[in-house]
Amino acid sequence: MSAPAPFRDASRPVAERIEDLLGRLTLEEKVDQLHQCGIGDANPNNLAARADEFRATYGSFILNGAQADLATRNALQRMCVDQSRLGIPAIFGCDVIHGYRAIAPIPLAQACAWDTELVRRACAATAEMAHAHGVDWTFAPMVDHCVDPRWGRVAETFGESAFAASRFAEASVRGYQEGATPIAACLKHYVGYGASEGGRDYSPTEVSPQSLWDNHLPPFEAGVRAGAKSVMSAFNDLNGVPTSANRHTLTEILRERWKFDGLVVSDWNAVLQLLNQGFAATEAEATARAIAAGVDLNMADGFYRQHLPQLVRAGVVPLAAVDEALRRVLRVKFEIGLFERPFIEANALTSAAPTVAQLALCEEFAVRSLVLLKNESDTLPLPATAKRVALIGPLATERAALLGSWAQQGRGDETPSIAEELRVRLPHGFELRVESGCAIEGGARDGFADALAAARDADCVVLALGEQWTMSGENGSRSTIRLPGLQEELALAVAALGKPTALVLVTGRPVELHAIEPRVAAIVAAWQPGSRAGAAIARVLLGEANPSGRLAITWPRTTGQIPLFHQMRPRARREPEGCYQDVPTTPHYAFGHGLSYTRFDYGQIRLSHASVRAGETLVAEVTVTNRGTRAGRETVLWFIRDPAASITRPLRELKHFESAELAAGEARVFRWEIVPERDLAFPDAVGARRLEAGEIQVFAAERSVTFTVLA
Ligand code: GLC
Repeated sequence: MSAPAPFRDASRPVAERIEDLLGRLTLEEKVDQLHQCGIGDANPNNLAARADEFRATYGSFILNGAQADLATRNALQRMCVDQSRLGIPAIFGCDVIHGYRAIAPIPLAQACAWDTELVRRACAATAEMAHAHGVDWTFAPMVDHCVDPRWGRVAETFGESAFAASRFAEASVRGYQEGATPIAACLKHYVGYGASEGGRDYSPTEVSPQSLWDNHLPPFEAGVRAGAKSVMSAFNDLNGVPTSANRHTLTEILRERWKFDGLVVSDWNAVLQLLNQGFAATEAEATARAIAAGVDLNMADGFYRQHLPQLVRAGVVPLAAVDEALRRVLRVKFEIGLFERPFIEANALTSAAPTVAQLALCEEFAVRSLVLLKNESDTLPLPATAKRVALIGPLATERAALLGSWAQQGRGDETPSIAEELRVRLPHGFELRVESGCAIEGGARDGFADALAAARDADCVVLALGEQWTMSGENGSRSTIRLPGLQEELALAVAALGKPTALVLVTGRPVELHAIEPRVAAIVAAWQPGSRAGAAIARVLLGEANPSGRLAITWPRTTGQIPLFHQMRPRARREPEGCYQDVPTTPHYAFGHGLSYTRFDYGQIRLSHASVRAGETLVAEVTVTNRGTRAGRETVLWFIRDPAASITRPLRELKHFESAELAAGEARVFRWEIVPERDLAFPDAVGARRLEAGEIQVFAAERSVTFTVLA
């Protein structure tokens, strides 16, 4: 029995196995390994390949949509292993963004729970289910920076704070890659995609180098440091150089600066799109530019397959560039064990519906992500005296809308609505009347009469308004963040009846409330809470759960205020100069806003020292007391402001957060250990970090103190 070829010998170092395999491959075989083939109805924005286009020599397949399951994966893998000359296994990717069969809240909602451990747990649970369905690699976490909620993909972000997104990026990578059943993670969309002009998806982005280093790059660097095995280059033209052909970001920063050794996959057709963007005159030129910049795996358009062999033979693309791209792809395949275990065995999760444990985790996350924006006169929880409740609005009985835009294998018909969950939880003898009143969008008012009649007969009203899942996510750009259709008109008509009215919002973004807010007593931002949305919302409405979410994104009053975010740099003149003449310049609800059914008091911030220098640490503490009669969870967000620096610094920079449950009457000390080099230094326009002497202000809720950094 001859010894196995070195690349097949798992006892050898990965680097050795890669070189051995590289030396055995023909140019065509190498190039096919750099092709990723999309199968199934990936998503409505991307047309997938046909089955007759699948080749045994392809490096990767995307398992999105209904056609993608374990049997499909193993059949394709059998083709790759048996029918290709060297039997190289393919790697199977999938958009497992916030759940696979059991769907967690959208990432924007998850961020409002301010709990990295919850994010990690949810990713680990999702990885188990996804792997059981054939997935080796998820195209997540999405860590784009966005301060424009017109952009539909704001729903997929972890909010507007680069610091928070960095912590959630780390937690996601660890959850996906270090859980019981690891799958490879993918940081996307590298980089600056969230700045799409006008919130219009696929549009160019103009991002200053300073903002790139302040806001857009940190979550990717955090994810790389956490060990992410891949990065996805984005669609956007970044300051005139598209990110899928941008050597500065893909090689100079990602490889040379951060020493990233994983693989870079382009986004769907992003190499082809270089033609649309005017960055290449021919398909061959687009191909050459992408691989020269540092894109290793070409998703979907097939340009690498079609053009690289002849580009290499013509000396336009050096063979070394193909070999280097292939080394990175093979390294990930070896590291995740694909050569030893190319097939995934079916297990109890493979054909299962969402498990009880996964649904419980989704429900816990959904409850934690809801944000109580307003609660005048303790309108919520619904009073025990309210025997007749009217639930009004198109989201009352909606199901699929609760799951968000990347519901993967989550099913609307398995997702109880708000109405269903409220009905089973209302005490005996209570009456619930449900009226949609109008559709999510469209101009029909014929449901108004029944809705108003239900409201008139009720002791209290719950409005359930919001968006369809197609109104956010990829290609979900909207010119206004007003509620669609006649929902605002319905809300005002119901509110005019004067009943105690609470508004529940199911949306993928903040929405305009400046007309409705003064007319309703309570508002809950539920976002798109996932498979257990109905239960979470009902439990909060009835007081079974105490809401604890805090906004991870600024909530504008009007679309016209966008962009509006907490980490803006100071203005040249103080209000009211330069403010809008027609609406306040402040947000409707600030970043970090969120109420509870109890009340938390903050003591003064205490500092261990009045000054600190590099190499030292300074401890900030604040005592928070639960002054209410029920337990509640409080999140302390620690901000700084550097009022005078060599580069103007934001009015507020989030630098630490901690969330904890406090019993009624409990006082708890929240502590932040300030390390100047980590927490007080800031990047310049080339990413060099500066720690400067001078005053620093520290904020926690309404409390603030100042200390000095010494040279
Ligand atoms: C899509 C998205 C990206 C996704 C990929 C594969 O167009 O931009 O987020 O991972 O294609 O579906």
